[in-house]
Amino acid sequence: MSKVYVFDHPLIQHKLTYIRDKHTGTKEFRELVEEVATLMAFEITRDLPLQEVDIETPVSKAKAKVIAGKKLGIIPILRAGIGMVDGILKLIPAAKVGHIGLYRDPETLKPVEYYVKLPTDVEERDFIVVDPMLATGGSAVEAIHALKKRGAKNIKFMCLIAAPEGVEAVQQAHPDVDIYIAALDEKLNDHGYIVPGLGDAGDRLFGTK
Ligand code: PRP
Ligand code: URA
Repeated sequence: MSKVYVFDHPLIQHKLTYIRDKHTGTKEFRELVEEVATLMAFEITRDLPLQEVDIETPVSKAKAKVIAGKKLGIIPILRAGIGMVDGILKLIPAAKVGHIGLYRDPETLKPVEYYVKLPTDVEERDFIVVDPMLATGGSAVEAIHALKKRGAKNIKFMCLIAAPEGVEAVQQAHPDVDIYIAALDEKLNDHGYIVPGLGDAGDRLFGTK
């Protein structure tokens, strides 16, 4: 069974409170989502392999560590996942970005795939699939499935807010995919929205309704 990590750093919790607040406007919402994505990227990259290099400081020769050139891919689930990409690229600018387009049918709550564009070397990369919300889990399960179908082997899933139902769905469908979240909320309501959640992430990010 995959692991679930809750990044409850005070800065993340503080910013998440303002992201949740319905009085937070689009501009601030977008900035805060990007900032939280950066903070989460710091935590999620904790296990990146290092290699030793020889350098010279102004004082002496030294052996020092650099990241071992691991190939990474960031995969936002469209649309709302886009809001997290720039925040992650601030810390790992060499990562390639693929896109998986899914929307949730409002009647059935099932994800409908409409776009997939991935880096060409899928089999050689480690991937982080990102989406602010993990509600029923349908979108995440389908996006990870789309990625695996094209050859991806090592995948992490990162979101801001998850419902217990979504966590369970991803764990059942993809027991090899660890889940990284900023908050685990209480439940889903009758419309499949996370309670208390933050509302519709895509609409709040892009000012649509
Ligand atoms: C939202 C959200 C997730 C999905 C989560 O996207 O960004 O992708 O719902 O719900 P699930 O876990 O029940 O699948 P939405 O379908 O509203 O599309 P959008 O990002 O284009 O607004
Ligand atoms: N998608 C959202 O944007 N918000 C939710 O609470 C659930 C799904």
